[in-house]
Parts: sequence; structure tokens; C-alpha cells
Amino acid sequence: MKDMLSWDQTLFKDSELFELDHIPEHFLHRNAQLQSLMFSMRPALGGGRPINCLCTGKPGTGKTTAVIKIFEEIEKHTSRIIPVLVNCQVASTRYAVFSHIFNKLIGYSPPSSGVSFKKVFSEVVKHLVEHERILVVALDDMNYLFYENEVNEVLYSLLRAHETHPGARMGVIAVLSDTGVPHMLDPKVESVFLPEEIIFPTYSVDEIRDILSNRAKLGFYPGVLDDSVLDRIAGHTFDLGDLRVGIDLLKRAGLNAEKRASRTISIEDVESAYERSRLVHLSYVMQSLKEDEKILLGLIADSSPANSGELYERFHSRTDLGYTRFYEMLKKLDAVSLIDVDFTGRGLRGRSRVATLRYRADEIKTRL
Ligand SMILES: Nc1ncnc2c1ncn2[C@@H]1O[C@H](COP(=O)(O)OP(=O)(O)OP(=O)(O)O)[C@@H](O)[C@H]1O
Ligand SMILES: [Mg+2]
Repeated sequence: MKDMLSWDQTLFKDSELFELDHIPEHFLHRNAQLQSLMFSMRPALGGGRPINCLCTGKPGTGKTTAVIKIFEEIEKHTSRIIPVLVNCQVASTRYAVFSHIFNKLIGYSPPSSGVSFKKVFSEVVKHLVEHERILVVALDDMNYLFYENEVNEVLYSLLRAHETHPGARMGVIAVLSDTGVPHMLDPKVESVFLPEEIIFPTYSVDEIRDILSNRAKLGFYPGVLDDSVLDRIAGHTFDLGDLRVGIDLLKRAGLNAEKRASRTISIEDVESAYERSRLVHLSYVMQSLKEDEKILLGLIADSSPANSGELYERFHSRTDLGYTRFYEMLKKLDAVSLIDVDFTGRGLRGRSRVATLRYRADEIKTRL
């Protein structure tokens, strides 16, 4: 009984370390990306416009974390540059993006209706010019601006502000999650954006092990996690390619060990945690779906694989939305890896297309 945990004992020295929104103090294996980002911001230190950046990589490869790190650094060193991180999952229209910027600069939000975009925009630009500030906007998860068809407008407004308002200096860090579908910008926008591309490759098994080992050292008491167990966690994480899975596995496996009143995490603790942790990415994506998208996903879950013509009939009778919206949503659900759609089918208006669920129907439905 000596080795058993009593009710007030825990394996966790600091459980905060295993939360997904924790900003790691040690951000390993991303020096090249941090340097490229910093280098692109340098002109702004001297009062010029920063170089625009485009960060790409699969989910959970450290893009958002890198931007947060760079912004912390900027804020430490100068008040001349104002960094604004916009989460495009939340702010997915031009108005919402600029409201967010307005709030950061001026300290309160413009009313959510009744004020034109033009007004909000010109207040933002006026503020920058008057206070001689340089704005750096990170459009995190810019994918969502594509889904809403707002991306060209947003970029165009940011990148051409200096033409209508001389003296306005703005730069953009665009962050795109690589979902396997190409995202094309309007050529007009592309020609003013001209970003420095910064690629976030998926981590190798060794890198994953290194990062998770570092987390475990800070978050668990000594001796809780041995190397063979860490290897197993790193392996699972590598298979799904999303570091979030590994962080969640550490946490859940730790809790499983506590439940058994054990002082060490076993392979079985990891395996039973994996049942849930592998769904971390699923939950992460699903929390960002809009009501109509959830309805569509639910319909697919009910009849996967579903013929897109029949699917549309059912979707239309539930939501009254037209084919174009339906088709856009189908593409989005495919892009975020929830379903597979065969987009090569040639039927009239795509009626021969088939949508297949990528997770079990019950896993999807409990999250709807
Ligand atoms: N190099 C690293 N060192 C330590 N922790 C990391 C590293 N890379 C990622 N993480 C952790 O992994 C999780 C996911 O990272 P992050 O949110 O930056 O990914 P992302 O590339 O923005 O993913 P998405 O495309 O899904 O938004 C975070 O909890 C972060 O702390
Ligand atoms: Mg991110």
C-alpha cells in the first residue's frame, strides 16, 4: 500500500501545462520560423511597413504559438508597433475583423450594428496615422475567411490602406491551416500581398518526443513518465500529426494513473486515454461549426455514405437554404477533414457526388 496514492496526492506538479491554450515557455524546434517572422517585422522597428507573411502547416504544428511568441517579443520592445491577433474562427467577416482591431487600438468595441464598415475602418486608420503607430494584424485561421468569402476584402482593406490614407502603415501575418485544398486569392490582392511564406512542417517523432518530454518534466512529478511510455505517446501523436493529441494524452494518461492510485503512468493508461485523445482534433474542429453546418453534418452522419442530391433535398427542407450554400458547406466539411467528398463526380450539379463520414457516426453525433 506504500506506493498507492492517497486522496490528496497527485501526479501533477502543474496541471496547467497540459491545457491546450497554455503558452509554452520552451517553444522547441521552431527557431527557423520564429526568426523568419522576426526578420519580416524588422522594417517596422525603423518606422516602415513590415513584410507580409504567410504561415502554413497542418493543425497543431505551432503556428498560433509562434505568432503569440513574436507578438510578446514585439510588445516587450516597442510600443510603436501594435500587434493584433485576430481569430478568424470568431471574427469571420470584414466588419468583425476591423471591430477587433478597433477594440485593440481604441479600447472599446464599435457597436455591432448601425455603424458602417467605412466608419470603423477610417477610425482605425486615423488612429494609426495620428499616433504614428504601425499595425501588424495576424489573421489566425484565415481559412475561415475563405469559407465566408471575405478574405479578399479583408486583405485588400489592410494592404491598400496607405493608398487612401497616406502615412498608414500596416502589415499582415496570415495563418493558414493546411487542409489539403488550395486556397486562391484574387490576383488583385495577391499582387499587393506578396507574402514571405513560412512553412511549419509536421514534427518528426523525435521532435514530438522532445516537446512532450519537456512538458512532462515541467508538469509531472519526477518518475511519473518513463521513456517507453513517452515513446508510445509520441508514436500516437505522430500518427495523427497534431501535437494537441500528445498534450491531451499526457493529461488523460496521468489522470488514469491517478484513478488507479498509481505513482507511474503505464502503457495501458495511455491506450485507454487514446480512445478519447484521438478525438481532440475532432472536437477542436467541431466547436467552430455554425448551426447550419452542424445540421448538414448531422444529416450526413444519419446516412453516410450519402448521395449529394438526396442530401441536398433533406438539407433544403430543414434549412430552406439554396444549393450554392449547401455546396460551400459540403466543401468546408471536407476541407476540415470531417467528411470525404468525391468532387470529381460529373453528375448534373454534382448530383452523383457522395459524402462519407471520416469518424464514427456516434462520435460525431455526441458532439453536435
Ligand atoms: N514546438 C512546440 N513546443 C511546445 N509546444 C508546442 C510546440 N508546437 C506546438 N505546441 C503546442 O501544441 C498545441 C498546438 O499548437 P498551435 O495551437 O500553435 O498549433 P497551430 O499550428 O496553430 O494549429 P491549428 O492549425 O490547428 O490552429 C499548443 O498547445 C502548443 O502549445
Ligand atoms: Mg492555430
